[in-house]
Amino acid sequence: MKIAICSDHGGFELKLRLIPFIEEMGHTVTDFGCCSEASVDYPDMAFPMAEAVAAGEYERGIAICGTGIGVSICCNKVKGIRCALCGDVLSAELTRRHNDSNVLAMGGRIIGPETAKAITRVWLETGFDGGRHENRINKITEYEK
Ligand code: RB5
Repeated sequence: MKIAICSDHGGFELKLRLIPFIEEMGHTVTDFGCCSEASVDYPDMAFPMAEAVAAGEYERGIAICGTGIGVSICCNKVKGIRCALCGDVLSAELTRRHNDSNVLAMGGRIIGPETAKAITRVWLETGFDGGRHENRINKITEYEK
């Protein structure tokens, strides 16, 4: 898959660890910044990344800040984005199966790199269950209109 990724300074180190991990899984990764640990404003990276996913340029997006909360708020304001902030593997699995989430948010100051890798792997590999969950997604899409 084509994966878009972004972080602020609070998620920069975790992002650097995740990019090669995701590439080793066979995906291509495009980094929307930031590019150092210098302080930046997470909306400046999260909105362009989420818009590119919503436009269909990337199949999925991953957004990382200190807590994961700021980037998830931004991403969920972009029409067509269903961003899930995950700190555990079960949530990552269930948000793919039930919410068909297309952006994963994580907190670089909240979870360690091994937990983040496990979350990322499950989130990338799990499909959408459809069925009754599809009706719920359709209601979200309707609301966005
Ligand atoms: C940056 O200091 C921090 O506020 C940001 O990374 C994030 O945690 C916001 O939600």
